[in-house]
Amino acid sequence: MSYPSQVRLVEVGPRDGLQNEKQPISVAAKVRLIDDLGATGLAHIEAGSFVSEKWVPQMAGSSEVFAALHRRPGVTYAALVPNLRGFEAALAAEVSEIAVFAAASEAFSRRNINCSIAASLKRFEPVLAAAEQHGIRVRGYVSCVLGCPYDGDIAPEQVAQVARELHAMGCYEVSLGDTIGVGTARATRRLIEVVGARVPRSQLAGHFHDTYGQALANIHASLIEGVTVFDASVAGLGGCPYAKGATGNVASEDVLYLLNGLGIETGIDLTLLCETGRRICAVLGRENGSRVSKALVARHGQDRAG
Ligand code: HMG
Ligand code: MG
Repeated sequence: MSYPSQVRLVEVGPRDGLQNEKQPISVAAKVRLIDDLGATGLAHIEAGSFVSEKWVPQMAGSSEVFAALHRRPGVTYAALVPNLRGFEAALAAEVSEIAVFAAASEAFSRRNINCSIAASLKRFEPVLAAAEQHGIRVRGYVSCVLGCPYDGDIAPEQVAQVARELHAMGCYEVSLGDTIGVGTARATRRLIEVVGARVPRSQLAGHFHDTYGQALANIHASLIEGVTVFDASVAGLGGCPYAKGATGNVASEDVLYLLNGLGIETGIDLTLLCETGRRICAVLGRENGSRVSKALVARHGQDRAG
């Protein structure tokens, strides 16, 4: 079995993690989280989204967050954008790059962005064109790649079609989202086989929510299939506002522990990442979703566990 020598982790905690929190979170707390994440060595942080605040109230302060964060050279600060209006706001906030988000399931597309898959792709065309004009890279997401909370099973071919369209439109990378965390390692390998025939594997990313505790197994399966970019959320923060019962992304700390164990280079400091996760959990008054972080505390005590 061969593994890549390097993997890029995309930290989505400040966006995918926090978007689902019901309690108000101050701009200062969000900025502290992003700055702490930047100090760990993470080179790609999704810091917010420019969506309708009626749909996702928690992301309403994203402009203020981008204005206040302390940008580190070499770190990409990204934001989600659903339409041209969101793009204009992202541009004004001087984001490093944007992400558009589609779904492989019609029902989820309607619940999440209030339009069909085809209409969403049409809506992204001017966004991609405007981004190109301003030299801003665009990442694409496909949700519900291994199952949908409304439509159930999703055929990998359906995912491949949406992924291919996003790629053809100009997305430099397509992140495959197991939004409700139902996937298994076998289904993940099959998915990458099918999608990988339409989009180069080097331009695919894995985005696994951990609802059924399968995310690390699915990441391992993806690594074997040649995927080298993974999204994760510090302390396993989050869920999806339009996917009832779905838990957060797999914890970044746990993914890093897996990668470290495989001898795969990421440039990220596990101790600092664990500290960051524990700090945001204390702020939110929420249980830490990282098994690794909890194990290190149990072993070394709070102060020395990092
Ligand atoms: P709509 O209601 O169909 O469209 O929403 P609209 O044009 O009628 O807009 C509704 C209101 O929002 C209007 O305000 C617009 O002006 C305003 P009103 O006139 O009623 O006062 N509006 C905006 N405000 C701020 N920024 C904007 C914007 N656009 C319109 N960009 C829309 C359509 C797409 C806007 C809406 O459905 C939406 O914002 N959805 C976002 C949902 C979302 O953010 N979901 C979570 C992220 S996706 C995810 O988590 C999955 C992922 O992690 C991968 C995975 O796990 O699968 C990425
Ligand atoms: Mg997600």
